[in-house]
Amino acid sequence: MGFGVLGVFLGLLLEVSTHGPHAVPRTSWRHQDLDLMEFSEPGIFNYSTLLLSEERDALYVGAREAIFQLSKKNVTVKNNKVLWTVADNPMMMCTLKGKSKERDCLNYIRVLQVVDDERLYVCGTHAFQPQCDYLNLGSFSLDGRPEDGRGKCSFDPSQSFTTVMVDGELYSGTAYNFLGSEPIISRYSPSQSLLRTEYSTSWLNEPSFVFADVIREGKNRADGEDDKIYYFFTEVSVEYEFFGKLLIPRVARVCKGDLGGQRTLQKKWTSFLKAKLVCSMPELNFVFNVVHDVFILKGTDWRDTVIYGVFTSQWGNVGLSAVCAYNMTAVEEVFSKGKYMQKATVEQSHTKWVRYNGITPSPRPGACINNLMRQQNISSSLHLPDKTLQFVKDHPLLEDPVLPIGNGPRLITKDVNYTQIVVERVRALDKNIYDVIFTGTDKGVLHKSVVFEREVHIVEEIQLLKNSEPIKNLLLSSETRSLYAGSDSGVVQSPTAFCGRYSSCHDCILARDPYCAWDPHTAACVNVFDIPSQKLRRLIQSLNGDADVCPSVSGLSQTDYQRVTVKPGSSAELPCLVHSNLAQVMWKSNGSLLTEASRFHLIAENGLLIYSVAPEDQGYYECWSVEWASAAGKNFSRLLAGYILNLELPPRPPLQAGQPTTTLSSQETPGTHADAEGNAKTDRAPLTSALAPPSFTSTAFFTFPPQTDTSLTPPPSSTIKFPPKQYLPPNSNVPPPDYQDPAAEYLQHNNSTALLFLFLLFFLLFLAALVYNCYMQYLPAPCLKLRAALLGSHKSTHQQEYTACEAGLMETSTTDKINMTEQPTQNGSQATQNLRALRDTGYETEPECGNGRIPSHSFGDNSPSQEKPFDVDCESQPIQFADAD
Ligand SMILES: *[C@@H]1O[C@H](CO)[C@@H](O)[C@H](O)[C@H]1NC(C)=O
Ligand SMILES: *[C@@H]1O[C@H](CO)[C@@H](O)[C@H](O)[C@H]1NC(C)=O
Ligand SMILES: *[C@@H]1O[C@H](CO)[C@@H](O)[C@H](O)[C@H]1NC(C)=O
Ligand SMILES: *[C@@H]1O[C@H](CO)[C@@H](O)[C@H](O)[C@H]1NC(C)=O
Ligand SMILES: *[C@@H]1O[C@H](CO)[C@@H](O)[C@H](O)[C@H]1NC(C)=O
Ligand SMILES: *[C@@H]1O[C@H](CO)[C@@H](O)[C@H](O)[C@H]1NC(C)=O
Ligand SMILES: *[C@@H]1O[C@H](CO)[C@@H](O)[C@H](O)[C@H]1NC(C)=O
Repeated sequence: MGFGVLGVFLGLLLEVSTHGPHAVPRTSWRHQDLDLMEFSEPGIFNYSTLLLSEERDALYVGAREAIFQLSKKNVTVKNNKVLWTVADNPMMMCTLKGKSKERDCLNYIRVLQVVDDERLYVCGTHAFQPQCDYLNLGSFSLDGRPEDGRGKCSFDPSQSFTTVMVDGELYSGTAYNFLGSEPIISRYSPSQSLLRTEYSTSWLNEPSFVFADVIREGKNRADGEDDKIYYFFTEVSVEYEFFGKLLIPRVARVCKGDLGGQRTLQKKWTSFLKAKLVCSMPELNFVFNVVHDVFILKGTDWRDTVIYGVFTSQWGNVGLSAVCAYNMTAVEEVFSKGKYMQKATVEQSHTKWVRYNGITPSPRPGACINNLMRQQNISSSLHLPDKTLQFVKDHPLLEDPVLPIGNGPRLITKDVNYTQIVVERVRALDKNIYDVIFTGTDKGVLHKSVVFEREVHIVEEIQLLKNSEPIKNLLLSSETRSLYAGSDSGVVQSPTAFCGRYSSCHDCILARDPYCAWDPHTAACVNVFDIPSQKLRRLIQSLNGDADVCPSVSGLSQTDYQRVTVKPGSSAELPCLVHSNLAQVMWKSNGSLLTEASRFHLIAENGLLIYSVAPEDQGYYECWSVEWASAAGKNFSRLLAGYILNLELPPRPPLQAGQPTTTLSSQETPGTHADAEGNAKTDRAPLTSALAPPSFTSTAFFTFPPQTDTSLTPPPSSTIKFPPKQYLPPNSNVPPPDYQDPAAEYLQHNNSTALLFLFLLFFLLFLAALVYNCYMQYLPAPCLKLRAALLGSHKSTHQQEYTACEAGLMETSTTDKINMTEQPTQNGSQATQNLRALRDTGYETEPECGNGRIPSHSFGDNSPSQEKPFDVDCESQPIQFADAD
């Protein structure tokens, strides 16, 4: 069985990460382009506890040794602050126990819960001696009479932990001791003693708590059952045998009215039951077995509730995250009807969990008190018979799993670790209801996805945090239409939609954002929630991305083409920006499609580069974006920019000093720097004016001085240093036009000598790399044979291949990087690189079984050895240990 499970988890990793479904965000927004509202105070860190107040305009933030009250409308506005530090004595005790004074022995605020209109209940780790206190909202001060926080708050600030306040009682999932080894799910109420879980591995086995919340079933049930508190966590499985620890995501629940047992299970839950949460791709046999966060989307009736969870695999290097959704009715069904599991002893000492097939005592063990029990004079858990209690004490685990809606994930994303999730239910203009899923990652990025007819679409990715750090907490307010993200370094507020950033109807519709619609009257993409309902009729929205609903745009007129005039033999850049990661760029010259086959053309992310412009290159150039809208089943093409390329007629004007020799220049202002960047005079090209034309960094690398003999071949393409693919949102800052690569000047003055020198240099580098890689066995058979012959060893090559394949199994990350996932960056900007690193791991990306292989893709890569691809044949080395029984 153990091997079977191993097979399930590992067996098809390769297949999953290469062929499994995964989505790519359509649009990417960089942090610096969004003008988000942010809050942080110098010297204060770990803003990880957030609480939105329903009544007040307030977002309460628990950080390290401080609690803030921020404005919900604008988190940059701080209304109150209170410090809660650790006194010297507990600090000393903490350091004496071997904890770090700077890191551990501080007070991390981890509980912020509303008690009533005037007070919050606040707990902190308080130097590994958790304490709780009341925070008076009127004066924004602590009562100063701290209570013992054990069982309510964790000791260790880095330990997983969850808490929820229900009707004045605090429910927590945490550790009960200093070492963090005694897990506990407990209820603290001012009037009763602590109710808790039994300390036993069959109840909780090294859990990582992620979430807890109440489902108000009581008021809508004829059978008089209770409200329930659901807990979500990952724990070490007892039911599967596995070498090492196999993690299992769980949902557990307790009844709100539970009072514990009379004799058996005194002061312990009588209603604690747990079940396995399944989030898997059955068709690929792949299981996501770690739950990181849960969001409960509550309906008006508890039966309409949907539970959303974000999952990854225990083997983080698979690089996949998934979102699964669960039907509350199905969860309830498992708890009220599911079969129990029981511990059985086989072969003396060995225990195994198997299904319990005997007769279960009545009333049903773990059930909440209902009308039927009340009729039998069981009005509280104190009256439950010992037989029932003893049974539930020994059988807290149910065999039946909770299956996701649709039996598989809603969303699977590659090269991302989701840490947080919130979901908002939105009624779109088609009157249908869509669940918009916001997922935060460990790199500070937010993904916004929508499920349309069972197919998921990632509308956008947003770099919420300035730095690449995990989003620790994520809240959503429908009232302010904002998301609030807490991280170690601060709090960020973001709108839920960026409709205004879509500048054309095509873009607005292809975004497929339920919040956004095109207003033909104002020719703007608007947020439907900003528009009064009587005006909604005139808006255009089509969530399948069918952009044919847009008013038709007439083609380019003669004046819409931007004139570009260059000197013969120099290079021309024709900028063209595509806003969508799902779109492809197509260039037409004189009406026919351009291909890269022409060696003087380079179709890059930011536009077209023609080096060494010859007379026959003159003519009309058009940049088209072709976007495949899968839900609409159509391609949508749109003309983004048009150019007329002309050669400058002799006599040539003399060169101006300090000016890049050859870049495009327009007729009106030949040779100005602004034009050199292709950045000015866009007013002549209405079509392109909405886009900020990009700049080519290291332009001069491609340029050829006018005197250069045009028959001279350009440097081998492997030496071209081209800026990484990048996506520039509108209004992004174009780098200063006077930017100039120092190499440019060098080229300018010593043109052909320099070229020859460069060429030689690269050739030498290439040779060196070739020799090195051959020596290191990175290169394929002929070379290896040569090496083997030289070194006199034949076996080692095969061994190398095998280890490469084996490592490939464990490192199956990011294999076939499809072009669409590639992510533009601007001038190495840190933020975008983070974004980029998120999905496109760039040169770190290793193709399957490619450990020890020279990364050979992407021409942004300066590696000369890319001409020599190398394939370790994984197929021919079947990996068998996964399923070997
Ligand atoms: C938020 O508050 C700050 C400080 O008062 C102010 O500068 C900023 O304009 C506000 N932002 C918005 C969007 O209201
Ligand atoms: C608190 O923030 C600091 C600084 O970002 C970080 O190094 C540390 O890991 C955080 N601690 C916890 C418990 O989150
Ligand atoms: C949950 O399941 C019930 C019963 O199968 C069904 O009536 C209900 O529509 C489902 N709810 C959702 C949100 O799928
Ligand atoms: C419940 O208690 C009442 C009064 O104490 C008694 O009359 C009745 O017979 C009891 N019913 C059962 C089913 O035990
Ligand atoms: C996801 O997290 C795992 C484990 O923490 C790490 O090894 C992996 O590199 C992360 N992947 C990405 C894409 O951030
Ligand atoms: C475009 O057409 C013009 C005139 O017919 C011709 O001279 C030029 O070479 C053509 N350019 C391209 C790139 O085909
Ligand atoms: C859509 O466009 C892409 C890219 O140009 C092309 O590969 C694909 O075949 C087109 N699909 C259809 C249905 O036209």
